[in-house]
Amino acid sequence: MKKICLTVLMVCAWGNASYALDREQQHGKELLGTLCGRCHAVGQTGRSPHVDAPPFRTLGDSKLYDNDFAARLEEGLSTIHPDMPTFRFSREDAEAAVNYLKSIQGHKQPK
Ligand code: HEC
Repeated sequence: MKKICLTVLMVCAWGNASYALDREQQHGKELLGTLCGRCHAVGQTGRSPHVDAPPFRTLGDSKLYDNDFAARLEEGLSTIHPDMPTFRFSREDAEAAVNYLKSIQGHKQPK
C-alpha cells in the first residue's frame, strides 16, 4: 500500500515539472523537429541551424495564443517566409505543435 502511494506521488511531481511534456506536446516536438529542425532550434536551448530562422522558444505569445498559428500550420506555412518549403499540418498535428510551442516560450538558454 505504501509503495503505491509513493508511486502516485512521484508521477504527480514529475507531471508538474516545468520541462515535462505531455504526450501531445511530445508529438508536436517530434513533428517540428523533423519538419523544421534543420533550420529552427526546436528545443528549449540551442541555436537555429539557419542563421535567420528564429528559435521556436522565442516566437512569443502573441502569435501562438490567438490561435492564428495553428490555423496557419493547417493552411501551410509557406507564406510566412520565402526560404521555407510549404508544410501542411492536420488539425491534430497543428494543435500538438502549438501546444508544444506554448510550453517552451520564455525558456532562456542555460548559462
Ligand atoms: C529551409 C529552412 C526553414 C525551414 C525548414 C523552416 N523554416 Fe521557419 N523560418 C526560416 C527562416 C530563414 C525564417 C526567418 C526569415 C523570414 O521570416 O523570412 C523563418 C521564420 C519562421 C517563423 C517566424 C516568422 C513569422 O512570420 O512568424 C515561424 C513562425 C516559422 N519560421 C515557423 C516554421 C515552422 C513551423 C517550420 C516547420 C513546419 C519551419 N518554420 C521550417 C527558415 C525555415
